[in-house]
Amino acid sequence: MRLRSVELEVPDSPAAAAFMRDVWGLAPAGTRSRTTYLRGTGDHPYLLALTEAASPAIATITFAGSAGEVDALHARVVAAGVPAPARVVEFDDPGGGGGFVVRGAEGQTFRLVAEVARAEPLADRLGPIALTHVVLNALDRDACAKFVIDALGFRLADRTRHMTFVRCNNAHHALAFAHAELPALNHVAFEMADIDAVMKNIGRLRDLGLAPAWGPGRHGPGNNVFAYFITPFGASMEYTAEVQRVDDSYRVGTPEDWKWPPNRIDHWGVSTRDNARLGAAEKTFRFRP
Ligand SMILES: [Fe+2]
Repeated sequence: MRLRSVELEVPDSPAAAAFMRDVWGLAPAGTRSRTTYLRGTGDHPYLLALTEAASPAIATITFAGSAGEVDALHARVVAAGVPAPARVVEFDDPGGGGGFVVRGAEGQTFRLVAEVARAEPLADRLGPIALTHVVLNALDRDACAKFVIDALGFRLADRTRHMTFVRCNNAHHALAFAHAELPALNHVAFEMADIDAVMKNIGRLRDLGLAPAWGPGRHGPGNNVFAYFITPFGASMEYTAEVQRVDDSYRVGTPEDWKWPPNRIDHWGVSTRDNARLGAAEKTFRFRP
């Protein structure tokens, strides 16, 4: 399975879509009713859906795979004792495809979609390619991780003092759950071609008056290069590159394995972090009841 897209609800969705297109670097992928779709340069039909709503919310997180993979996961969900997940014949989004919808341990909504056809990649080396991970704040991060491991076949990748990382292919993590007092969207990370693409986009956003809220730097778990920005509509978004590839021989790390070097909040020792802005962003996009 591959992480495909995130579907957000947001007031003034045209302004949010314009930012994600004109500033962040996504490309138009169509509109339907109250929803604007934006894509990356990779082969997913879209990465981000922005639906007009009275208040911000994270509606769904969508994973894509073959019809066989999705059917096998549906059977796994049923076998795990989860209340019968709703089957959808055809999702009404760019790319189409059927699948099912399942609720996570703290109200998260996950969609599993059987890919019908892949989109034609775009020739733009500097633009975001795809989503590489979504981090969710959780009251009980280990219960949330256990749900996606047991019901959706994820594998535990690493566990730090605050976060539990899980993967659904050989990318170090597609989801992570961060300990928090409120279930909500922590951030969405976009995969870039390389460090140059991350750095050149930081420079481009600086020219527009936007400084990273954290970064650039290099993470511990996943070893990826990162730069976080807070969008004008209140979401924390990350440019990232060089996410570690792992297989079943990867040793799952523990909090003891993952400590920052003294006085550091990245492994290069160059980044600063705006905790107030990041903390506010992490409370903005909540799950609908
Ligand atoms: Fe991240």
